Amino acid sequence: MFDAELEKFRSALSGICDLKELEDIKRAYLGRTGMLNEIRKNTDMRGLDDAGRRQFGESFNSFKRAVESGIEAARVEFSVSLTGEAPLGFDPTLPSREFGLGAIHPISLTQLEVEDIFRGMGFQVVTGDEAVTEYENFDAVNVQGDHPARDMQDTFWLENGMVLRTHTSAMQNRAMKTLGVPLRAIFPGRCFRNEATDQTHENTFYQLEGMMIDEKINVAHLIGVMKELLDKVFQRDIKVRLRPGFFPFVEPGFELDFKTRIGNSERWMELMPCGMMHPEVLREGGVDPQKYSGFAFGLGLTRLAMLKYGIPDVRLFNKCDLRVNAQFTASV
Ligand code: PHE
Repeated sequence: MFDAELEKFRSALSGICDLKELEDIKRAYLGRTGMLNEIRKNTDMRGLDDAGRRQFGESFNSFKRAVESGIEAARVEFSVSLTGEAPLGFDPTLPSREFGLGAIHPISLTQLEVEDIFRGMGFQVVTGDEAVTEYENFDAVNVQGDHPARDMQDTFWLENGMVLRTHTSAMQNRAMKTLGVPLRAIFPGRCFRNEATDQTHENTFYQLEGMMIDEKINVAHLIGVMKELLDKVFQRDIKVRLRPGFFPFVEPGFELDFKTRIGNSERWMELMPCGMMHPEVLREGGVDPQKYSGFAFGLGLTRLAMLKYGIPDVRLFNKCDLRVNAQFTASV
């Protein structure tokens, strides 16, 4: 008898955005001057016979129950539980009605893309820990306690003697010990340094470490892999060059630059420290440097995301300002 009304109620209910709108609907249907009372008032019961009266009563009551339970279910869905437990029927993974679908952070977008490219070259993607031992972060990669290179990386020390990794190179030793050789792996992740922040420096940033170890790996392999990566990321033929660079865990060590166009002029842009893995680092990881050689690189993921998307200030990444993220579509 009230099928049409019930359908209208359900469609109104499915369109609400918050508890206030729910209260409005409740008032419109169940309130003193609401629809149900109006129906009752306007129905001439004396004009109905017994069977008609019974039928009206049953239909009316079931309509009323459907309205009441619909409103209760919606209330559960909208209320935030005070006990911290999700109320029954509330799915916290549903996209918010108020804010709509989110977007993937530009650093994550860059990371996913780079991971994909490396998988295509036979590299495995491994995650590590953000808190690591002093040994893993420094000694295992040839930076002993009194080594001046420790000063290059201002470190956050934890009270238990561990450190927040200052670079993803902290994963090198563990990777060799747990994965063995030959090895092709990348380790993306967050790193931390006790830096004063400015447009290009952050205390929290992302790197992507890569290692390739096998018999007879040489600098040509390093250049080939890096060029393939950059060609794919920037979708054109990218020129790269190596300059000498010092890092205690590589020998020889390089800075890899790539050629970029700024306005009308072409410029070399520094992108990636890299080099051939130091024999001591291989040995410390249980790998025989007489038999195996390898390269390692530390791609600045944060920096690559800035270059790729033209983001002028690194601090925007950690600001939690949704307007920054909202400009990036979930396109992966
Ligand atoms: N770990 C170095 C840094 O963060 C980068 C690097 C990685 C250099 C691998 C060479 C090889 O500065």
